[in-house]
Amino acid sequence: MSGVFITFEGGDGSGKTTQIVRLAAALRAAGCDPLILREPGGTIVGEGVREIVLDPRHEGVDPVAETLLFAASRAQLSATVIAPALASGRVVICDRYADSTVAYQGYGRGLDLEMVRGVNAWATRGLVPDCTILLDVDPTEGIVAATPAEADRLEREEITFHTRLRAGYLEMAAAEPERWTIIPRDRADVVWAAVVAALAPVFARAGIRLDA
Ligand code: TYD
Repeated sequence: MSGVFITFEGGDGSGKTTQIVRLAAALRAAGCDPLILREPGGTIVGEGVREIVLDPRHEGVDPVAETLLFAASRAQLSATVIAPALASGRVVICDRYADSTVAYQGYGRGLDLEMVRGVNAWATRGLVPDCTILLDVDPTEGIVAATPAEADRLEREEITFHTRLRAGYLEMAAAEPERWTIIPRDRADVVWAAVVAALAPVFARAGIRLDA
């Protein structure tokens, strides 16, 4: 038996959570018992890592250290939670996974992409999602709109960071179109319809039929 592994990716505020909550409800209505996870987190070790990496006091964390912290959380999650759940035939939905590290630490922070991919492969023991949904948002829409005209250095830096991140995601999705689906920002119900359409084939193979 082997389950279905779905991940959601995108910049901050791309609406992943709304879609994941809806997908979980639709799967339950279809008679499944999906496992919903988030990264970093999902295990005691992972939640500890989450506290470290998201704590604003740790702003100056070295990018390599940051990468390895995310990878540590992921290694624990994939080995002790995701792989066993898939082996027992469950649907696993993860809010962020290895692609987030390529996007944020690789494209965003500028670390060597191959190095980051190597760390990911090691941390996940090569466990790759069946399907990855990219909720694509133009960061200048959200961030610039909310930023005063005289943005300070950090705010400006943040926009360029998010612009690099978005370009990175789009590049990753284009390089592996059989795994990724890009869904542009829109009303939540329009995005939801696109999510259902994207996942229908992979769920159909597992004998699951989702009602939109
Ligand atoms: P979170 O509050 O979960 O944000 P979101 O709702 O956008 O997922 O915080 C996770 C943050 O960590 C988010 O800014 C993305 C970042 N992140 C990385 O930089 N690298 C990673 O590998 C992962 C998993 C997350």
